Amino acid sequence: MNTPAPMLLTRDVLQVVDLSTTEILELFSLASSLKGNYAAYASTLAQRSLAMLFEKPSLRTRVSLELGFQKLGGGVTFLDHQHSPIGAREPVEDYARNLSRWVDVVAIRCQSHDLLRRFAAASTVPVINALSDLHHPCQALADLFTLQECGIPVDQLHLAWVGDGNNVCHSLIETIATIGGRMTVITPPTCQPPAEILRVANARACRSGARILCTDDLSAVAGADAVYTDVWVSMGEESRAAEKTALLTPYRVDLALMKRAGSQARFMHCLPAKRGEEVTAEVIDSPSSIIFDQAENRMHIQNALMLALLRPDLARRSRTPAHASISL
Ligand code: CP
Ligand code: NVA
Repeated sequence: MNTPAPMLLTRDVLQVVDLSTTEILELFSLASSLKGNYAAYASTLAQRSLAMLFEKPSLRTRVSLELGFQKLGGGVTFLDHQHSPIGAREPVEDYARNLSRWVDVVAIRCQSHDLLRRFAAASTVPVINALSDLHHPCQALADLFTLQECGIPVDQLHLAWVGDGNNVCHSLIETIATIGGRMTVITPPTCQPPAEILRVANARACRSGARILCTDDLSAVAGADAVYTDVWVSMGEESRAAEKTALLTPYRVDLALMKRAGSQARFMHCLPAKRGEEVTAEVIDSPSSIIFDQAENRMHIQNALMLALLRPDLARRSRTPAHASISL
């Protein structure tokens, strides 16, 4: 097979800072190669298995992981919260030890990032975060890959986040902090990302040259290459719906805000979107919207990650031992 070899990456990916700058850029390169030529990779994950544990609903993450893994020749089992709840019939650690005997990689969508960490600590196979309350790394990697495809050099881009400083926002912050560029997080003061997320990101940014700015001033969208928003009420925080809606209504992305950003600005959203709440239908359906490119690219970047995790024989070089952590 005459295709670029992925790097060796045999550890958990619970948040973006589990990856180095070089690893992220190599994932982009591999995703691009995969996207253009799936036939060349058709059997690369033959005899490999993925288990997916989802405590929460999903369309994009479930379909792109499941069908993506199958496109590479692998087998997938889906474990939903109703029939195979994590931590209910047996300790989280025993669940992880059982699954590790049957599958090669586990993708988990759960409420608690702490639960994800416990599961990963007990698992002997790599664990990928398919969304937790704190992070959504696969989403952010796909998003930055999508912006790179738009022709924006990743270390020069300016991304404006508008709305709630949530899990997707945290992962975008970590991605930009790692690969360079600029991110302006525009939220009400009480919806800003936690200090610990910013501390970790700023430690990375010192090395990459990235700039992360938090403000409540909507005029900071001016000149952004992309304006990104997400739902005001994330899964699991429905009890805060009224409070969040009141706080975030002034931060709705509408045509007037996109005009303040400038004609170069793309519109981004991880989806699902609530039209008329965090974004108007005119914006989401406008020519500047790249939301379905983002959705498509979920599959390509996740497949690149799977190859990097499970095909060390294709690796160009080894960087870290199994389950190593990268110090900031
Ligand atoms: N963006 C995203 O993760 O979508 P789903 O919740 O449908 O998986
Ligand atoms: N912030 C949203 C993202 C959904 C993909 C949530 O956690 O519900």
